Amino acid sequence: MMSKPSILVARAIFPEVLQSLAQVFEVESNQSDEVWSPAELTRRMQGKVGALTTGSERIDAALLQANPQLRIVANMAVGFNNFDVPAMTAAGVQASNTPDVLTETTADFGFALLMATARRITESEHYLRAGLWTKWSYDMFAGAEVHGSTIGIIGMGRIGQGIARRAAHGFGMNVLYHNRSRLSAELEAECKARYVSKQALLQSADHVMLVVPYSAESHHTIGAAELAQMKPTATLVNIARGGIVDDAALAKALAARQIAAAGLDVFEGEPSVHPDLLKVPNVVLTPHIASSTVKTRLAMAQLAADNLVAYLTRGQALTPLNTVTGSAA
Ligand code: DGY
Repeated sequence: MMSKPSILVARAIFPEVLQSLAQVFEVESNQSDEVWSPAELTRRMQGKVGALTTGSERIDAALLQANPQLRIVANMAVGFNNFDVPAMTAAGVQASNTPDVLTETTADFGFALLMATARRITESEHYLRAGLWTKWSYDMFAGAEVHGSTIGIIGMGRIGQGIARRAAHGFGMNVLYHNRSRLSAELEAECKARYVSKQALLQSADHVMLVVPYSAESHHTIGAAELAQMKPTATLVNIARGGIVDDAALAKALAARQIAAAGLDVFEGEPSVHPDLLKVPNVVLTPHIASSTVKTRLAMAQLAADNLVAYLTRGQALTPLNTVTGSAA
């Protein structure tokens, strides 16, 4: 009998997904969910033809060089800035991600973070829990209006469009967007979204929502100069990636009330959080959970697993990020 191909599942995942992988592969797993160093990850990859990773595992030229047997790495995330895709392509390694299955869930969360930020939900809850609430006051935790206001979305991919639909159709908001390329006229009409320059968006939005993928070009899309262009009453929400915002500059702007508030699900150097962000009250902080519903995280894990099976048994990944030659099973 032919032995099963060996794969690595680099982080803990749903046991049922692990079991389904074990039907097809020899699986080394990490259900204790240790975060391995790059050297340990490289070592664990030895002898594996496939790997399932999350956004926390970096796949770079050094790891690929040490593992010439590797044929596919399936990321359980739509974002893939942890992958050096050109190096993977050069090494003949298939890269895949998990688009679509998390779009609406992540857009829901973007909206939840916007609401919590604008309406000061966590700040007021902390006040209540601290026993400080003694009377009703006319301006208690008065926040920013959401319905009927202007949202500016930077990054108008699938998730950005989901947020635009919620904003326009659910909350009667005026939707502006900025993106590398314009949407088709049909999509703009469906999202009721108007394309503007980044500067016009920053200057006129009541709420700025960041949904742009991380790359060298999008590093610090929002820094001190951009924060200075925003309205003093505006809020900023980042559900994209750490590094899109200059967190130190943002903490300064929040402390100085240069903008009203921010909601952040992602951070530069996470899981570390810039210490100055922890000191300001006008920021809502969540630990990178925008796609985290049970149903969606299961769908992401399943799609990553399906990519491994599809590529290693049939030579074709379901949601590939690159084209590699010699992919036949
Ligand atoms: C993604 O899918 O990119 C999310 O950020 C989860 O890591």
